[in-house]
Amino acid sequence: MSRQPAHPIPDIVPRERLDFGLEGDIPRHWLGGDAFKTRLFDAMSTLFPVGERFFITCVRDYKDQVTDPALRVHIKDFTRQEGQHGIVHTQYNDRLTAQGVRVDLILKGQERRLFGILRKHLSREFTLGVTAAAEHITAIMADAFVERPEVLEGADERIRAVYVWHAMEEMEHKAVAYDVLTKVAQASYRTRVLSMLLVTFLFPVNVFRIMAHMLKVDGYTRWQRTRLWAKGLWWLYKPGGVFLPLAGRYFAYLKPSFHPWDDPVVASYAHWLDLMDKHSPVTASNLLNEQLVAQPHR
Ligand SMILES: [Fe+2]
Ligand SMILES: [Fe+2]
Repeated sequence: MSRQPAHPIPDIVPRERLDFGLEGDIPRHWLGGDAFKTRLFDAMSTLFPVGERFFITCVRDYKDQVTDPALRVHIKDFTRQEGQHGIVHTQYNDRLTAQGVRVDLILKGQERRLFGILRKHLSREFTLGVTAAAEHITAIMADAFVERPEVLEGADERIRAVYVWHAMEEMEHKAVAYDVLTKVAQASYRTRVLSMLLVTFLFPVNVFRIMAHMLKVDGYTRWQRTRLWAKGLWWLYKPGGVFLPLAGRYFAYLKPSFHPWDDPVVASYAHWLDLMDKHSPVTASNLLNEQLVAQPHR
């Protein structure tokens, strides 16, 4: 069952001394002054705390059935990493609340959808499938955000540091939920595909719905918002834009023989890892002051 990948697999390192300075004077539209791009990342941030708690819960459903000692350790480290992501993104989201964004209602809706509906009406195997699918999407997006500096060009360095750190850890633990799904829950191929289809539908719908609310809170008129959406959706979906170059990686998940470690970590991982290991606590200035973002490592 387990194939040996031709490339090194990174350790899953829970980092708990983190200080990104998120209480500081971060501009409202921190991503190059672009409201659409900023609110895309902000909307994702509002989904993380409840979403990651859901992932942890769905993986831990199978914790007692895991006999492989290495996988048990991976589950523990995955849980610690996702726990920290929830804490940091809650600090991030407090900024949004202060701007008038109804983070409280967003969290409530997310809680109801994931815990009140999905976990109530779907099998444990299926919700683990949802987790593994979401982890795959997060991991390929994480790759894109750190390997293509133009995506986060002009970002406030504190928020960029949060996303770089989060992206690195998503890469480190990208196979954990999948391994539990396939090796422990022994989920069918059908479960894997259907759960991916559900996530592929739910994730953008939710993100766009939250962005629509945020852009209203920003005070844009209907006409201004229409223009922002037209320009922003083109940036996301145009050939060579944010998403299309990821299509191959996305569809790879549907191959029966797929494993997350078919793809190695991004080329810049070693540099970021070096920065994170060298500095404790991990801070925005420690992560970014060596200008790695300005020098993509291909
Ligand atoms: Fe995460
Ligand atoms: Fe994750």
